[in-house]
Amino acid sequence: VSVAQADGLPPLEQKDTYTVGFAQMESNNPWRIAETKSFHDTAESCGWNLIATDAAGSAAKQVADVDSMIAQGIDVLFLPPREEKPLIPAVMKARAAGIPTFLIDRSVDPAVAKPGEHFVSFLGSDFIDQGRRVAEWTLENFEGEQGIIVELEGTTGSSPANDRRKGFDDVMAQHDNMTIVASQTGDFARDMGRQVMETLLQAHPDVNIVYAHNDEMAIGAIQALELAGRKPGEDVLVVSIDGTRDALQAIIDGKMGVTVESSPFFGPLACEVMNKYAAGETIEPWVQVQDRIFTVDNAAENIDAAY
Ligand code: AHR
Repeated sequence: VSVAQADGLPPLEQKDTYTVGFAQMESNNPWRIAETKSFHDTAESCGWNLIATDAAGSAAKQVADVDSMIAQGIDVLFLPPREEKPLIPAVMKARAAGIPTFLIDRSVDPAVAKPGEHFVSFLGSDFIDQGRRVAEWTLENFEGEQGIIVELEGTTGSSPANDRRKGFDDVMAQHDNMTIVASQTGDFARDMGRQVMETLLQAHPDVNIVYAHNDEMAIGAIQALELAGRKPGEDVLVVSIDGTRDALQAIIDGKMGVTVESSPFFGPLACEVMNKYAAGETIEPWVQVQDRIFTVDNAAENIDAAY
């Protein structure tokens, strides 16, 4: 059901400038840095007096950052919730304080907090579809007979980790020649992806497909594979999600097969949706971002615009 502010959500008046909160979860990878920059880059043209925080990978700090923004009297909250459940109190407190909240890039547990009721809308990608598309590309391009798959999961309890796993695993479960032998979190971080891959390689030296829930972990996995004398791109197919500069370079270098896009450039979309809401227009509960797919066919032409 689409919603407008008249439906009982916190109102937002039309004005020239807004005090806007953007409560970032962490800044330890290029994706997060690009997302935060996108909000800063949009601020002036959208009339935002932007209060941006960095929770440094702590859901508890992210909740506290939102508390502090509420105390500072923000007009609007843009929140990328690090995990699905721990950030629900932040959504509820903003709701109780009468602050229209837009979830950015990740969502919260839909059984508890709902768009059109507790927050206005979720702006982001279809993570299940991203996982599905990686799986389908892998099935079409894997040259071996038996796929021995290691999966590097994102942050435990986050919507992209849950959904990217579901999308990929459900497709693979329909193919007898594909076996996921290990699935472990690398917390969406390069170094942890490398460490986890090193450990999993000991237990599963016959791995020939690595599916990472984001590019940073894929790059970490490539490092671990090379250190172990493996040849990513030749004897191991590495597939992933995001579309970072390093991933596109790895595709160009022949070390990675595919990355399905997950764009971090939310600033302009956030501005557009906020202004529509202030104008009383109807907002979809999920403003869905369309994602491209990067392979050897288009990585070179897209690398200059990558982050
Ligand atoms: O929520 C989107 C994910 O979060 C991106 O894929 C990942 O790189 C980031 O940390």
